[in-house]
Amino acid sequence: PRSFSRHLSCPGTIAASVGSEEQPSAVAETGIEDKTLQKKFSEVQKERREQAQRTVLIHCPNNINEKKFLKYLSQHGPVNNHFFYESFGLFAVVEFCQKDSINSLQNGTHTPTQSTEAAIPFKSRFLNLRLKNPSSQVSAQPFVRTTNQSPPSSKKLFELLSYAESIEEQLNTLLQAFQLTEENVRLRHLTCSLIEDIAAAYFPSCVIRPFGSSVNTFGKLGCDLDMFLDLDETGKLDVHKNTGNFLMEFKVKNVPSERIATQKILSVIGECLDNFGPGCVGVQKILNARCPLVRFSHQASGFQCDLTANNSIALKSSELLYIYGSLDSRVRALVFSVRCWARAHSLTSSIPGAWITNFSLTVMVIFFLQRRSPPILPTLDSLKSIADAEDRCILEGNNCTFIQDVNKIQPSGNTETLELLIKEFFEYFGNFAFNKNSINIRQNPFETSLNISKNVSQNQLQKFVELARDSAWILEQEDKNQPFSSSRQPWGLAALLLPPGSGHTSLSRQKKKKPMSEKVKGLLASIKSNSPDRSTDTSGK
Ligand code: CTP
Ligand code: MG
Repeated sequence: PRSFSRHLSCPGTIAASVGSEEQPSAVAETGIEDKTLQKKFSEVQKERREQAQRTVLIHCPNNINEKKFLKYLSQHGPVNNHFFYESFGLFAVVEFCQKDSINSLQNGTHTPTQSTEAAIPFKSRFLNLRLKNPSSQVSAQPFVRTTNQSPPSSKKLFELLSYAESIEEQLNTLLQAFQLTEENVRLRHLTCSLIEDIAAAYFPSCVIRPFGSSVNTFGKLGCDLDMFLDLDETGKLDVHKNTGNFLMEFKVKNVPSERIATQKILSVIGECLDNFGPGCVGVQKILNARCPLVRFSHQASGFQCDLTANNSIALKSSELLYIYGSLDSRVRALVFSVRCWARAHSLTSSIPGAWITNFSLTVMVIFFLQRRSPPILPTLDSLKSIADAEDRCILEGNNCTFIQDVNKIQPSGNTETLELLIKEFFEYFGNFAFNKNSINIRQNPFETSLNISKNVSQNQLQKFVELARDSAWILEQEDKNQPFSSSRQPWGLAALLLPPGSGHTSLSRQKKKKPMSEKVKGLLASIKSNSPDRSTDTSGK
């Protein structure tokens, strides 16, 4: 019924269309459709955080009556927006118009008492709803409408791709199917906000900021949730109250290095998540990594979370990718397809190791698009050259300045199609002199000493190159066999995503079969490079 999906709109909030039947899902930071409305990354993050602070997560009985549920909640103030999703039960994300409503709701909430186990009485915004009188509450409609938070299955994907009428359309279809939905973006920000409440028990004015693919426009449904604990906010002085001849400092405990400080802080937060964090399970403290982190699973949202500390450079690099992803609609379409292609051929993995990462693949696409003629994307240096005074940003001694307002960047005059671009991408990297050249989106990246693909082994690189060549070849064959859409075989992008040994791929493999001795050599090399410390620096640096 329509009345279920009517939402009050509050001034100053992000346009809410979730659950609304009249409008499609909002695009916000998920799909960048309208150039004129492009917001700065920092503005989007600020709005999302504020929105998440007015939101609660409620575990609901399966047979809940949506109308009564909303009426019950509106005792605490108007509800701006809500949606349901399933993940080991039914959950509702409910956004109030005012933050005060949360206090009111929490004041009417009690800590359950159980006969066999004892509760840790931590009062969070993750709640459980029970029916006082189950029989009278049963909804006329048996189930509420739930939103999907998972990526499509490969069967579904192949089906969708087969309906498309061109390779261009296939790339856009894949993007639509995998990109984060408005609801998923909300759930990610809400999860960070819930973690922030826990961290705030130690550091009251801390901020937990999401970064990486959750916010950089390249996130796929199901991707991990990277977040970091930002304690810098605490350091911002109120200058008005700091006049006179004195300077007041906090008395603190000192440790030998920044790294040790980070490890200590993450260690206590990890303990806190493990002991008090509702729904936080499988907490692992990985404090000896290059970048110390706490990894855990947030059960209710289904997100695998990586929490680091003071990682503002990674946030800045997420902003840079956000800008590149927002500049031209071809960028995200290409990146999503290349990532899916790499995953389909096991070039990437959820387990860390000698494989290339999605982050590196994204940088490779950006680099490729910077080298088209005319360029589709500007170099990082040129984004720096058009930066204003307010864009100036120095982090840990690295100059991370670039223009923050996408609207000030001249659009590209390049009109190449996605079909051409994906083919050329595979050609380009299938023939790239990895042994001589490095891939660099400007000559001076933020952390110049860092090679983001240092982990990639020679063997993995070789596999990447071979698959890129195979894929370029498949697309060339497509060209010759027009019209491909009439064929029953998976074609175009779908052919590229087929597992090795099926359809087109085996044809191309056959054609380029290597002599046995070379294969054996490859196998030996792979055994040798299996230990991570032997991995080769593939950029040639
Ligand atoms: N990062 C980096 N250098 C690396 C790896 C990661 O600067 N060698 C930063 C990037 O800003 C990256 C973020 O850490 O976006 C998160 O890393 P990761 O989760 O590996 O990549 P995502 O971009 O989030 O992609 P995915 O969808 O695979 O999680
Ligand atoms: Mg990530």
